Amino acid sequence: MRLDKVVIRNALRAALTQRLLALEVFAEIDSTNSYLIQQPGPAPGHFHVAATDNQTAGRGRHGRTWQSPPGSGLCLSLSYTYPPGPANLSPLTLAVGLQTIDTLRELGIGGLKLKWPNDLIAADRKLGGILTEARTQSDGGVTVVTGIGLNVDLGAQTDLAFGTDALGAIDLKRHAVELPAWNELASGLINGLSQTLVDFETAGFASVIERWRSCDWLLGKNVTIDTPQSRIRGVGAGIAEDGALLIDTPSSGRCRIRSGTIVTSSVPETNS
Ligand code: BTN
Repeated sequence: MRLDKVVIRNALRAALTQRLLALEVFAEIDSTNSYLIQQPGPAPGHFHVAATDNQTAGRGRHGRTWQSPPGSGLCLSLSYTYPPGPANLSPLTLAVGLQTIDTLRELGIGGLKLKWPNDLIAADRKLGGILTEARTQSDGGVTVVTGIGLNVDLGAQTDLAFGTDALGAIDLKRHAVELPAWNELASGLINGLSQTLVDFETAGFASVIERWRSCDWLLGKNVTIDTPQSRIRGVGAGIAEDGALLIDTPSSGRCRIRSGTIVTSSVPETNS
């Protein structure tokens, strides 16, 4: 077990510990997201956090599995309740991805990109993923559970399945010049992500969109994406104000995609 609850807790921001309903560190759990989504939502403004380095039934987007054998990766979820209101929560997962990159940079790990909507990319491979789920409360408030899976040390298991994209996996051990301590990773992410969840309530996605665009891994790449309606092929053209993916297609011009799965992505061939 690589995570120590006391060490993590002692490194959290004072402003956060006052709002921390619970920090739970599990030696093994099916899924930190499944666990938190089944718990009562914390009161608005408060956090419930669950973490492990051994997840037995991790989940990814679109019902996929997230494999995280013992000691291979950090699995971390935060639960936070937004008050009733018209806030558009769909780009929240993009803001969480950006914050994850920022936190890792502060820990000395650079060169990371974001693959819309929820993948962390290092050296053109998948370093981690984010799954954000929501449950509406009886008063109209919305409890959000956002979970990060971060590959730390996959050993020889870089063939773990992460969905339909042909991207292979990479871990921090291979990418980082120096691997931060697991507890430092966990506390850094909890500090950063809790602030992101709060900021999103007041500033929404607009305040971070330009920074997200600067990390956009799909920009200029050939992309094939399955949407609920059809398969779309084109070139990544950034993201819109609401977090939708923009794809320039030969037949239909610029398409806005709110939900979909990237099937393939590659750098366009040049004629030279
Ligand atoms: C994806 O790539 O589709 C998202 C993967 C998200 C995995 C994390 S690990 C912590 C949390 N618990 C889960 O079951 N899933 C998320």
